[in-house]
Amino acid sequence: MSGKVVAVAQQKGGAGKTTVVAHLAVVFTEAGKSVAVIDIDPQQSLSQWYRMREARRGETGAGVLASSIEGWRTRNEVRRLAESHDIVLVDSPPHAESEARIAIRAADLVVVPVQPSPMDVWATKPTLQLAEREKVPVLIVLNRVPPRAKLTEAMIAEVQSLEEHLADSRLGNRVAFAAALAEGHAVTEREPSGRASEEIRALMQEIQRRLH
Ligand SMILES: Nc1ncnc2c1ncn2[C@@H]1O[C@H](COP(=O)(O)OP(=O)(O)OP(=O)(O)O)[C@@H](O)[C@H]1O
Ligand SMILES: [Mg+2]
Repeated sequence: MSGKVVAVAQQKGGAGKTTVVAHLAVVFTEAGKSVAVIDIDPQQSLSQWYRMREARRGETGAGVLASSIEGWRTRNEVRRLAESHDIVLVDSPPHAESEARIAIRAADLVVVPVQPSPMDVWATKPTLQLAEREKVPVLIVLNRVPPRAKLTEAMIAEVQSLEEHLADSRLGNRVAFAAALAEGHAVTEREPSGRASEEIRALMQEIQRRLH
């Protein structure tokens, strides 16, 4: 078996990389896929989330966790885990171009969370260039979109500059995402029929379509 590798990358800190990886790991698992997650961020936030899950063994786990920080290990880990899993998700650190490049190079798809602010959109450019150079397709996901989103004209123009890669699915600015993660859960385990759950499942389905 050779599974698909999805790197979640974005140089800008706090864009939602870890939130997206953890939630995708759970929804892919719920959809019957075998999932491995790799945390190459020295902050190790994803690993902390995963350890909380492990501590409650018996509940649905989120696949295998392999933490690796050094570049050469990342590449080997990705290959090894893709042999035995349908999906390998890589959470990458902010402000670390060489680490991000390794994750992107190993990926079939790069998912780039972006918050709807001009500065966040500008900060996305280096990540997009990296993916372009490595010839890996990109899916940009607007994250923390405010309720009843009233994006300004300027913001709509900025977002449109990303249009060719923009996902149809968006994630709202919802406390549920943060609250679930803080307890080692995902929103689909807390409020399976809530809006946040619908959004993350829609994103998973869109990613699946891109991977085929
Ligand atoms: N859709 C969302 N709704 C509400 N809060 C969110 C959402 N996405 C992320 N957050 C919150 O924003 C903060 C940053 O998210 P997260 O840690 O996932 O970003 P990151 O890109 O992994 O950050 P870093 O670059 O530091 O690794 C966290 O407090 C998280 O709970
Ligand atoms: Mg993170």
